[in-house]
Order: sequence, then C-alpha cells, then structure tokens
Amino acid sequence: MRVIQVGAGVHGLRWTQWLTDFPKTEIVGLVDVSDEALTAARKIAKCGTDACFSTLDQAIKNTNAEMLVCVTPPEYHKATIIKALKAGLHVISEKPMADTISSCKAIVKTASETRRRCVISQNFRYRPAMYTIAELIHKGKIGEIGQIKVDFYLGFDFGGGFRHEMEYPVIVDMAIHHFDYMRYITGLEPVTVQGVAWNPKWSNYQGDCSSSLIFEMSNGARILYNASWGAKGQFSDWNGNWQIEGDKGTVTYENGHIRLYSVPKLYKVKTEKEIAPKKMTREEQMLVLDNFIRAVTYGIVPECEVFDNIKSMAMVFAALKAVKTGKKVPVIDKAFADLLSTL
Ligand SMILES: NC(=O)c1ccc[n+]([C@@H]2O[C@H](COP(=O)([O-])OP(=O)(O)OC[C@H]3O[C@@H](n4cnc5c(N)ncnc54)[C@H](O)[C@@H]3O)[C@@H](O)[C@H]2O)c1
Repeated sequence: MRVIQVGAGVHGLRWTQWLTDFPKTEIVGLVDVSDEALTAARKIAKCGTDACFSTLDQAIKNTNAEMLVCVTPPEYHKATIIKALKAGLHVISEKPMADTISSCKAIVKTASETRRRCVISQNFRYRPAMYTIAELIHKGKIGEIGQIKVDFYLGFDFGGGFRHEMEYPVIVDMAIHHFDYMRYITGLEPVTVQGVAWNPKWSNYQGDCSSSLIFEMSNGARILYNASWGAKGQFSDWNGNWQIEGDKGTVTYENGHIRLYSVPKLYKVKTEKEIAPKKMTREEQMLVLDNFIRAVTYGIVPECEVFDNIKSMAMVFAALKAVKTGKKVPVIDKAFADLLSTL
C-alpha cells in the first residue's frame, strides 16, 4: 500500500524504517513541519525531495496514497487523521488517539462517516511477553480476574519536548498502553476510577508525572495502577510490573520475567513456574501493520480500531477527571454512552 507518513521525530523515524522494511508498504509522501526531520526520514526511506512536504494538503494532492501513518505529538493527531479520512485514506495513528475527549470523539465520528479503517497503534499488546500473558489469561489459566496491581515506576528524562510540558504526562501520553492492555487481557470494561496525581519535588516535568489510580471493572474486579516517570530509579521496564490475580491463580510480570502461579484452593500456591515469552514472527508495530493491511485487504475488523480504542481513551479522560476533582467518577459518562450508541 502507498503510504503518507506525517511526523518524523524520534518515534516517526522508527516508523519510516518499519514502513520501508515492511514488504507490503511503500512510502510515497513524508510530511513534517521541520526540514531537518524530513531530511532524516528521506534518507531512511531512500526517496527524493519530491516526496517531502511541509503540509498534508500538498502530500495528498501530489501523491496517490492509500493510507496514512500519523506520528505527530498528540495535539496534532485530530487535524491529521480527520483530513486523511476525508481524503479517502485509511489511517494508522500513534497512541494516544488525541489529547482531548472532543478530539477523540471527532475522530471516531469521522471514521464512522467515511467508512475508512482508522486504527490506533497499541503495539504494547504485541510485545512477546505481554502477548504471552494475554494468551495465558484468555486460555483460562488463572480463571476469572478479581484484582490486578500495576507498578510502572520508570524515572525517565525525555530531555524536553511535549511530555515535559503536559499537565499530566504519564496519564495522557503513556498510560493508554497500560489501560488498553487492561481491557484487552481481562475482556472487562471499566466502570469507575478514582485517584490522585502529584509531581515529586525533584521532577523536571512541569505537570504531575506521578499518579495512583483505582479502576473498578464490570465484574467488580479492582485494578490498582501506580505510575511515575519521576521515580528515583528504573524499577520497571516500559511494560510496568504486573500482578494479575484470578480465582484459579496469578500471573506476574516483572522486568522481563513472567511467572504463573496455580492456586486452585483458597490461598495456597500449588505450582509456580517461569513462562518463556512466545516466539512471534511479527511483533509490535510490524504486527500492527500486518493486521491493518489484512483488515483493509479482506474487510476484516482490525484490533484497536478507533471504535474500540475510544473505550481505552475513556479511561484516560476519566482518570484525568478523577485526579482533578478528587472524586470517584464514571469511566463512560452519559455523553460518552450516547456517542457509543450511535456508532
Ligand atoms: N508506541 C510507542 O511506543 C511510542 C513511542 C514514542 C512515541 N510515541 C507516540 O508517537 C507520537 C510522536 O512522538 P515522538 O516522540 O516521535 O515526538 P517528537 O516530538 O520527537 O516528534 C514529533 C514530530 O512531529 C512533527 N510535527 C509536529 N507537528 C506537526 C504537524 N502539524 N504536521 C507535521 N509534523 C508535525 C515535529 O516537527 C516532529 O518532527 C506521539 O503520539 C507519541 O505518544 C509512541
């Protein structure tokens, strides 16, 4: 498929490489507001300056693209995605879908009206370790989920940029991976959230880079989510450390290690074993791409289409409301439910 890529920053250049390496995609247009970024991307894609544009309008007009990949900062996702969908392109966008609830709703509405495929790249689902854990849970190895604890404590300095300026950088730019994964592994929908956010004294983030949230899920299970980019050390990897407990046992993930505990009776562990992550032929964004091309080609509903992803994004916006008000809030409020019912 012929692709326009918008945004060629740190993560965008990785996408340029993936789109170049992937056998079924060809970059026909690169868009960025920075000439430096375009030059770097052009070298990876091995294309001429005639494929480089400073606006999406020019790229759409001068290429015969079929799809677009959006890798700009979140605040620009809405304009790019909506323009592409209206021009008849199928879209993959980086997470998060957008930075405000109204932008997300506008994207979902446009995807519905234009009937183009619009997928958010939740690559976290397709990391071998996380994919393996999801499979264990989906196969019923730990039974019905009752409680989950996530500790994402990763002191990380991006050296400036949009994350250091956001009001709640981890909740808006990072937690969507973890929230989406919660829905994916449990098959449950979140009902309420409560929590607090703060900024450690030493933090070089302007906004609150630490938070502690409790989600109540549709079967009554609770998920405790503790996260910080301001930790004094790297106590988890980017996946976070997980303890997922069901009525038959527990699966844990800690810094690359998966352990499965069989607990058939009350609290006594019967067996405990380390599980090796599954070998996957494609993973992360390459699997996102593969699923997307398959969906467009064969008319299959892809995973992480915006109609599903909006429910993961609802967790982000409800979490923001909860930490701002200090109250327990519904994840899907009436306005949200009304929107979902029209799709
Ligand atoms: N899934 C992941 O693992 C992962 C990792 C990193 C970043 N991301 C996501 O990727 C996106 C980009 O992050 P990044 O780290 O590459 O950011 P970045 O700031 O390094 O790069 C953004 C690029 O977009 C360009 N840009 C800004 N506004 C634009 C516009 N209106 N039109 C065209 N180009 C524009 C900038 O010039 C820059 O080159 C974000 O949504 C981020 O959350 C995802």
